Amino acid sequence: MEEKRIYINTFGCQQNEADSETLMGIAGTRGYLPTEQIEEADLIIFNTCAVREHAELKALSTTGQLKHLKEKNKNLKIGLCGCMVQQEHRKEDIKNKYPYVDFVFGTNQLSRFGEILDQALVAKKRLFFVEDYSTNPGTICEGLPVKRKFSHRAYVSVMYGCNNFCTYCIVPYVRGRERSRKPDCIYNEVKGLVESGCREITLLGQNVNSYGKDLETPFPFAKLLEKLSSIEGDYVLKFMTSHPKDASFELIDTMAKEKHVERHFHLPMQAGSDRILAAMNRRYTSERYFELVDYMRKKIPDIAITTDIIVGFPGETEEDFEKTLEALRTCRFDGVFSFIYSPRKGTPAAEMEDQIPAEVTRDRMARLLELQMQIQTENNEKLVGKTIRALCEGESKNDPAYLSARSDSGKLIHFLKPEKEIATGDFVTLRITEARAIMLIGEITV
Ligand code: 5AD
Ligand code: SF4
Repeated sequence: MEEKRIYINTFGCQQNEADSETLMGIAGTRGYLPTEQIEEADLIIFNTCAVREHAELKALSTTGQLKHLKEKNKNLKIGLCGCMVQQEHRKEDIKNKYPYVDFVFGTNQLSRFGEILDQALVAKKRLFFVEDYSTNPGTICEGLPVKRKFSHRAYVSVMYGCNNFCTYCIVPYVRGRERSRKPDCIYNEVKGLVESGCREITLLGQNVNSYGKDLETPFPFAKLLEKLSSIEGDYVLKFMTSHPKDASFELIDTMAKEKHVERHFHLPMQAGSDRILAAMNRRYTSERYFELVDYMRKKIPDIAITTDIIVGFPGETEEDFEKTLEALRTCRFDGVFSFIYSPRKGTPAAEMEDQIPAEVTRDRMARLLELQMQIQTENNEKLVGKTIRALCEGESKNDPAYLSARSDSGKLIHFLKPEKEIATGDFVTLRITEARAIMLIGEITV
């Protein structure tokens, strides 16, 4: 039998990365082998993102480039999936403007990918499998085959969907309501990974702090971390993303006492102004956020805290923005993922008055980045001379004389390749010799 090849392009977040590994696993059951060369693929899947306009435009323009491949190879099958195609207007765009896309399936159809593929291969017409989450709460499916990209690190979804409806965010509309996997299923998956030598496991959910609330017997996320930490082995447990309204002091206590849990908390703040937080429907105040940060620093002094910030939310005044800068000075984050607000069709914020002009958001973004780079450099300079454990991620992308590693608190460290062989996925102990804003330089000890 002739070998068939599948090429998957994943846009957006880690959840999509994880979903693509499941798609790859299912395609494997139909005899498809992965390829990195799009030209040699018999099947191309784009797993799309909708969180900002930029991500959508990138997915659409990349889809546009597939036209010539289809002209060259009439047997080529092209499928689009993920968050972007869950939106009615985008589904229509694909129907009307991208006739060479053969099939489209939504985020709740992942488990049906095998059947969808079987149908798409023989169908005479284009196929659209997208369910509306306003009428369908979404499902969970266990036991699907997964083909993981790496053996030393893995993503494990603990829940799907989101119930929060932050006013700027499209996720609840395109991923449906929160639904948690059973603790035992997660435990077995993580145990299997650790036993197979996986060293870094990232638990995924849009809001992991509300994990388990929907289960028949509720099971808090802190308890899940505790349960998973009882697995014997040499590994780090990471998790994302948290929500300040649900992140509990109990969770921080658990992090402090469980040696397998990373010394890192990613806690999206979004804005420093309480007025803007309310307009975003975030349901916490900056005071509550600062309390959490204080508690984390008290309980886990070497913790790294990172955040997400949206710049230019509708109605954001200079005074509101100053509060975001002030919050960065207060929290002294180890990393900030900052995004210019992008109106998403169908969300309340897109309809709000007083959308902020691009020149203003650009200027604010530049000021935010300048401040944050200064804070990060100062934070990192404090690490010079310290000894840190980190997981080797392979050769540095910038200089083949160096290896790169990620510390338990998520910091990127480059170090000169030592004489002894160090493999990707080995833990190393490094002494920090130099600090920059976004990375550290270290040397291997012993
Ligand atoms: N515009 C800009 N940033 C957004 N995010 C989510 N929706 C939007 C939007 N419409 C950001 C938030 C979130 C991160 C994953 O993406 O900061 O935490
Ligand atoms: Fe979007 Fe808010 Fe849900 Fe995060 S918590 S996915 S920002 S709606």
